[in-house]
Amino acid sequence: MDKNFYITTPIYYPSGKPHMGHAYSSIIADFFARFKLIDDYNVHFLTGTDEHGLKIQRSAEKAGQKPKEFCDQISQTFKDLSKTLNLSNTDFIRTTEDRHKKTVQHLWSLLEKNDDIYLSNYSGWYSVSDEAFYNDDEIEEIEGKKIAKSSKSTVEWIEEESYFFRLSKWQKPLLEFYKNNPDFILPESRKNEVISFVKSGLKDLSVSRKTFTWGIPVPNNDKHIIYVWLDALTNYLSALNYPDTNNELFKKFWPATIHLIGKDILRFHAVYWPAFLLAAKIELPKKVYGHGWILSGEEKMSKSKGNILDPLKIIKEYGLDPLRYYLVKEVSFGNDGNISQDRLEDCINSDLANNYGNLCQRVIAFAIKNCDGKIPAKIHFQSDDLKILNKFQENLDTIRSKIDEQNINFYIDFIVNSLFEANKYFNDQEPWKKKDNLIRLNTIVYTALEIVRKISFLLYPIIPETSLKALKIFNLSEKDIKLKTISNNEFIIKGNMINKIDILIKKIEKKDD
Ligand code: ME8
Ligand code: MG
Repeated sequence: MDKNFYITTPIYYPSGKPHMGHAYSSIIADFFARFKLIDDYNVHFLTGTDEHGLKIQRSAEKAGQKPKEFCDQISQTFKDLSKTLNLSNTDFIRTTEDRHKKTVQHLWSLLEKNDDIYLSNYSGWYSVSDEAFYNDDEIEEIEGKKIAKSSKSTVEWIEEESYFFRLSKWQKPLLEFYKNNPDFILPESRKNEVISFVKSGLKDLSVSRKTFTWGIPVPNNDKHIIYVWLDALTNYLSALNYPDTNNELFKKFWPATIHLIGKDILRFHAVYWPAFLLAAKIELPKKVYGHGWILSGEEKMSKSKGNILDPLKIIKEYGLDPLRYYLVKEVSFGNDGNISQDRLEDCINSDLANNYGNLCQRVIAFAIKNCDGKIPAKIHFQSDDLKILNKFQENLDTIRSKIDEQNINFYIDFIVNSLFEANKYFNDQEPWKKKDNLIRLNTIVYTALEIVRKISFLLYPIIPETSLKALKIFNLSEKDIKLKTISNNEFIIKGNMINKIDILIKKIEKKDD
């Protein structure tokens, strides 16, 4: 079985500070990466910044800086954010690095050699904000301004000499590929949009620009700069040291398991990228998942709209793990979602503080009082205990396959239900009434502690810091978290001391309470 897992986020434009939308993609990617980590996979998790092109050049000019200087600063804020979000990324790539430039130029030469690139003239609409070309039927005029229908960003007319990629040639092979790989584009609804776009006919794609200089030069014709999307998409390969296909990273991790992106950039990842790869005879990634948008009111939250929410502010006010939990749980994965402070506070109070935090505290407190502060040693499971314990084992394979389908809702529901059942179990079993039957009392405590342990393992991909805090009860650390052990009902070591822990998650005083 393939135990290698390569997940990528988009590489973000360092044209302005990161916002909640970027944090969202990165946190979701981290959730999948950490899940695979505890399931004994080799994980490569890549994120980074996309630093070339006219959009960045203009942003730098506006700031009165040289592009590289400008990118160095803002790229650092994205790097800092990945630390703040506690991402487990194994690499952070910048497209201004030499390792990347070499790969891009190599890929270009390969496409040229295979006769997939030719020189001609381009005229048409271009959005600098999206770094995208649009057909006539993809733009509209609002208040005298031409804008792209899909992104609402301003387009400008450009006419210049340009190299073209023979995208039209790949229309049929792409459709064939989608047909043979029904999971390549997800979610399903977005897949259908992509397929109908491809079916409607593909025009050759302009892949170089001549009117500005901030980018990677075309090999043997440095009057031309390589189109920023051909440059950017290649990051997924340059991070694996392509074209050195014999190195460990490439051998282990290509093709990528999943490119996680927002739906705004699905066309680039699900049409252009596979076409470039087909033309270069490189294996295609296994999946592209285009998630929904974090909205601000009705609109997509974005730098250019100026309606952004700063993740750092929310983290400062509520803490990182509550934000992570909220984004994973409350934004139904695949759909758009809003950030509501009210619902965030509800998540903290009911799921995290009440259901999880209190469960931990009351079981420990009871064990400290009634079991000498130790994990009970003499136990004898009855059917009530086994019923709740075995649920984890019974669902383990389902959990794995749901995660492979990016069904986050199933995962969260399983955890929330397990927390509910665990609290109910402890209430119903009434261990405080079992003081004359110590084996029974001990068994209830042991069972409850085991459930705390299992749930904490499952929570690790979502709220790693809090999960690790809870696992201190058992002296367990990160290296001990193995998903497969949720099948084991006697994992925690009998007779060991139980460690007291601080309050896991503090309740929020709600203003309207
Ligand atoms: O497109 N809701 O960079 P970018 C959810 N450099 N996710 C959002 C979001 C929102 N409101 N806003 C942004 C680029 N994102 C290119 C990518 S990849 C080879 C090159 C997330 O800075 C989402 O993942 O505009 C979206 O696709 C990405 O940030 C766009 O970031
Ligand atoms: Mg964007």
